[in-house]
Amino acid sequence: MWSSMMMLVIGSLILQILISTTSANDVIVLTDDTFEKEVGNDRAALVEFYAPWCGHCKKLAPEYEKLAASFMKINTILIGKVDCDEQKMICTKYKVYGYPSILWFPKGSLTPKKFEGARTAEALAGFVNMEAGTNVKILSLPSSVVALSPDNFDKVVLDETKNVLVEFYAPWCGHCKALAYTYEKVAAVFRLEEEVVIANIDADEYKDLAEKYGVTSYPTLKFFPKNNKTGEDYVGGHELDDFVAFFNEKCGTNRDEQGQLTSKAGIVASLDDLVKEFVIADDDEKKILFSQLEEEVLMLKGSAARHGNLYLKLMKSSMVKGEDYAKNEIQRLEGMLRKSISAAKADEFTLKKNILSTFV
Ligand SMILES: *[C@@H]1O[C@H](CO)[C@@H](O)[C@H](O)[C@H]1NC(C)=O
Repeated sequence: MWSSMMMLVIGSLILQILISTTSANDVIVLTDDTFEKEVGNDRAALVEFYAPWCGHCKKLAPEYEKLAASFMKINTILIGKVDCDEQKMICTKYKVYGYPSILWFPKGSLTPKKFEGARTAEALAGFVNMEAGTNVKILSLPSSVVALSPDNFDKVVLDETKNVLVEFYAPWCGHCKALAYTYEKVAAVFRLEEEVVIANIDADEYKDLAEKYGVTSYPTLKFFPKNNKTGEDYVGGHELDDFVAFFNEKCGTNRDEQGQLTSKAGIVASLDDLVKEFVIADDDEKKILFSQLEEEVLMLKGSAARHGNLYLKLMKSSMVKGEDYAKNEIQRLEGMLRKSISAAKADEFTLKKNILSTFV
């Protein structure tokens, strides 16, 4: 009994760690202003000094993020980074001449020790464990990219309730490897969007499918929106912000590059006028406007319908709880959003907050 309870607790802890680390970047960004507040005090710190244009730094980034995710729950150690193009003062002070430079600052000390090992998450973790006396292992994060094969291709890609992006890759292709890290991030950004699927398929292994969709080079990206399953070429850029902008435009999602909902998420423009009237109406008029809103919501489809129902729920609460409800509830939600909560909860609170902001 006790042990199964423990298993449950440990299981949900692990799940929490995984949930909270798959999308966010856990590397702490340090600046000229914050550096000596965060480093050299009550925590030890590993700091990467980098430049945005430096190739070795880009290569290190996914490894360094894995390291930060794995050490996230260890609050005696900070894993940080400094952009030396921007933060010239601190980079000069620590005599950073080459990028990336990775320096270890023991607890209470601003005298660094240089990390000279291999630039992998495992080697970095080994170094930090040795310096700090910890025993942290690198977590392997689950992938949010759906792996396709002939067994599931049609079921996933031709699903008319999903907008699907498919990368046809070959294991030996260098450009595919370069894209893999960004592609994983794209999938993490949209992993809570029910209507968006980020998938890939080994086109070298499954040649028939590649041929069927006219794939002649790697990587080839094809987009299969809900309403047209022909497969159109994705010709946009290969940076994270390109992909995020593409989906926000094509699929009506409202995510930023961290995977968070933007302030536009949940807003249904066609309900705006009714809400505006509702805010200034007296109690009897409010009831009438509420039934009008109910009718409008019935006509909505997909995610708009889901958000419409949230409007109804919030409007009802506002009628029951009175004038200050929206204002107070927004404050409460903002407070909760500042705490460390799961991504799903953050979505839920942000949607409510956005909709309520049209009520005040
Ligand atoms: C579906 O997509 C294909 C490929 O982009 C395009 O040629 C075709 O016109 C589209 N069909 C419709 C009905 O929009």
